[in-house]
Amino acid sequence: MANKKIALLTAGGDCPGINAVIRAVVKTAINDFGMGVVGVEDGFQGLIEGRWHDLTYNNVSGILTLGGTILGTSNKADPFRYPKGEVGGRAEFADVSDEAVRNFDRIGADRLVAIGGDGTLHICKGLSEKGIPVIGIPKTIDNDVDCTDYTFGFDSGASTATEAIDKIHSTAQSHHRVMVIEVMGRYVGWLALYSGIAGGGDVILIPEIPCDLEAVCRRVVERSKRGRRFSIVVVAEGARTTGGEAVVKKVVEDSTDPVRLGGIGDFVARDIEKRTQLETRVTVLGHLQRGGTPTMFDRVLATRFGSKAAELADRGERGVMVALKCQDIVTVPIADAIAKLKTVPSDHHLIRVAQSVGTSFGV
Ligand code: F6P
Repeated sequence: MANKKIALLTAGGDCPGINAVIRAVVKTAINDFGMGVVGVEDGFQGLIEGRWHDLTYNNVSGILTLGGTILGTSNKADPFRYPKGEVGGRAEFADVSDEAVRNFDRIGADRLVAIGGDGTLHICKGLSEKGIPVIGIPKTIDNDVDCTDYTFGFDSGASTATEAIDKIHSTAQSHHRVMVIEVMGRYVGWLALYSGIAGGGDVILIPEIPCDLEAVCRRVVERSKRGRRFSIVVVAEGARTTGGEAVVKKVVEDSTDPVRLGGIGDFVARDIEKRTQLETRVTVLGHLQRGGTPTMFDRVLATRFGSKAAELADRGERGVMVALKCQDIVTVPIADAIAKLKTVPSDHHLIRVAQSVGTSFGV
């Protein structure tokens, strides 16, 4: 009987730790189960276009600490809504999922292991319903995938944001300025909450707690009156004012996730400066948070996720995602993981802790 084979792909936005997962899947598949692994190039784009290559032990040696993904990725290749160019100025889409299924059959793999976030997992569910046996691995700096305590990539993204906040802290102090730092996170506030607490933010604004800018300014002025002549305001890109909407930077029609958030930092900074007359500056951290070497936590989590996925592939599991629950790596149905985004609960213990050390959430 021929050896079993895994087809592996990475889709959606990149983040630190993807290569560590690829390495763990390939090494575990070869070492523990004698399986072969094929790497599909550029996410679902490669599955649709028929681009893949074998992944050997040599391909994955030395990639543990490397940022990005050696397989390439794409967030413009949803097989169920594949961009077909423009007609009359409007983007046109087609369902090419049958092509993806045909190519998966051509690879001759027993399992498709897909490393991705919410968008990727939605596509996985669709492909699963078309007969492709899928195993998902939750990846994103946003930490918004449900049913897992953490996605890999989050710890690295939050660490990079923290380091940036630390650096901004010293210049804020020297110039007696209010510094607004906009961090990523899409519709959830995990990145802002963790980096804001770790970086000693005086104000943290997250989408789950709509803010009142008057309350934000009150905190900044209070600090100033107490002789604390600078303030650090950490804003999640998805944050919004009470009754307001998240600020949209642009809409990328042909993307699997068309809305790009951004601009709330600028909005908040302008408002603070106007109301308080205190000099205010903005820094948007952007894609910096997705680059570089994974942290120790992410390297370990990525390795555990990857090894588990190879084990599940050997065991013949399908339609499931690996997840971290307390200290254990478990499996959960993909359908459960995508039922809703994992947002920050308003009674989360970290919100209370932050408030206890004097951080305002702008309410
Ligand atoms: O989901 C990861 C993420 O970095 C979000 O935090 C951010 O909103 C989005 O991707 C940015 O997407 P893009 O790389 O397409 O600009």
